Amino acid sequence: MAEKKTAIVTGAARGIGAATAQRLAEDGFDVAVVDIDTDHCTDTVTAIEKAGGQGLAVGADVSDSDQVGSAVERVANELGAPVVLVNNAGVIRDNMLFKMSDEDWDTVMDVHLRGSFLMSRAVQKHMVNNGWGRIVSLSSTSALDNRGQANYSTAKAGLQGLTKTLSLELGKFGVTANAIAPGFIVTDMTQATAERVGMSFEDFRDAAVSGIPAARAGKPEDIANTVSFFVDERSGFVNGQVVYVAGGPKT
Ligand SMILES: NC(=O)c1ccc[n+]([C@@H]2O[C@H](COP(=O)([O-])OP(=O)(O)OC[C@H]3O[C@@H](n4cnc5c(N)ncnc54)[C@H](O)[C@@H]3O)[C@@H](O)[C@H]2O)c1
Repeated sequence: MAEKKTAIVTGAARGIGAATAQRLAEDGFDVAVVDIDTDHCTDTVTAIEKAGGQGLAVGADVSDSDQVGSAVERVANELGAPVVLVNNAGVIRDNMLFKMSDEDWDTVMDVHLRGSFLMSRAVQKHMVNNGWGRIVSLSSTSALDNRGQANYSTAKAGLQGLTKTLSLELGKFGVTANAIAPGFIVTDMTQATAERVGMSFEDFRDAAVSGIPAARAGKPEDIANTVSFFVDERSGFVNGQVVYVAGGPKT
């Protein structure tokens, strides 16, 4: 990479997004931290700057079209045209089908699917102008199935379809689109799931690990490393793929 380039990581205030933002800074990018939680972006921005990149915290709800438009414009003006987008922002609203509310369904669809669509649409023009770009979206092993996650499973499967279609539309402009489907990764999200099912986090994690061939839980850095691979200049022929990063074929 000759000159410094700009990346956007959504949901980068914590967890997988924060580790990814830091990793992209280590790889030579300036990184915008786009998160709805504006109060907790400082640690990620500090980590980006320690790694040698310029960091910028931008508050936005990825499911809101106007906020997405303003956020991407601000990144372009203050950091430079974004040529890497990591669609990572996510929420869970787990419940068995008979108890799942309309709102549980809509919120999960809005953040994961509408959010990734809006962000990808807003950023692609910068990538196309640049003749180079990378879109990486966070799917999940739940895309295959997961009890209590009809909403999340559907959204994460949908992101795989979005990824493959973006790869067809954007490939000729030097832009790749790929997805990562993580298994069990230790973050606030998995802590919240343990709470919901009424287990201590340790018991919940150990139960998950018993089904993982690599015999350990995943770390945010495991996913950040895979993002780094997709974003690498040398990965330009890897397009429209979904990689399960789950310590085995799936959990
Ligand atoms: N942790 C896991 O085991 C796991 C497994 C598979 C997939 N994933 C996916 O990886 C991604 C990151 O997960 P995590 O575990 O780091 O989650 P997390 O809950 O720790 O962090 C999610 C981040 O997204 C932000 N966010 C939520 N709604 C937003 C919105 N509308 N607009 C902007 N930002 C918003 C939150 O403020 C938070 O900073 C998610 O898409 C998640 O579904 C996680």
